[in-house]
Amino acid sequence: MIIAVDGPTASGKGTIAKALAAHFGLPHLDTGLLYRAVGRQVFLDGGDPDDAGDALAATAFPDTLLGDPALRDEQTGGLASRVSVHPAVRQALFDRQRSFATRDTGAVLDGRDIGTVIAPEAQAKLFVTASVEARAQRRFLEMRERGAGVNLLEIQDDLRRRDERDRNRAVAPLVPAPDAMVIDTSDLDKDEAVAAAIEAVEQAI
Ligand code: C5P
Repeated sequence: MIIAVDGPTASGKGTIAKALAAHFGLPHLDTGLLYRAVGRQVFLDGGDPDDAGDALAATAFPDTLLGDPALRDEQTGGLASRVSVHPAVRQALFDRQRSFATRDTGAVLDGRDIGTVIAPEAQAKLFVTASVEARAQRRFLEMRERGAGVNLLEIQDDLRRRDERDRNRAVAPLVPAPDAMVIDTSDLDKDEAVAAAIEAVEQAI
């Protein structure tokens, strides 16, 4: 069984994907981490994330980079969003995601194009979304907890910029698959969102 979980930044898709993996006993891949690793590697190489050649070269990042806590920061998220527009970068990361999705065990993958490009045959496709305000508020609380000096309006602007880039890129834009079940988490807490997702998957399989 393949479960595809797509949606914008801070929608709760990562939390939902992790909980689904635990509930159904499936391995989980956060595909955003791969794009974040490319963004981080471009930065470490002193390259330009908007240059397709520099970004493609950075797809040869070492596996150890995937454990780097810096991948989670906002700066790296922004770089990931910029390198992910290059078709050559998406192609270079395709096989890795595809082989994870087609493991004998089944799998849960979360990202932007799992249900549309990486595993269109997935038995269950969720599109997890929430208003920009709700997502910014979550990011704000998360970052404040980590002790970062943060500004709510700046976070909102950054989310809007990233959403726009992800939705409008030519290749694999962020759009729900036609057969995806949409879960809006704006007014749900974590447990409610996870329960809604489990119910949606059970209906689909
Ligand atoms: O989900 P996360 O915020 O970690 O993703 C970082 C960036 O990587 C996204 O803004 C998006 O541009 C890109 N991404 C993508 N396709 C995926 C996963 C992430 O384009 N499957």
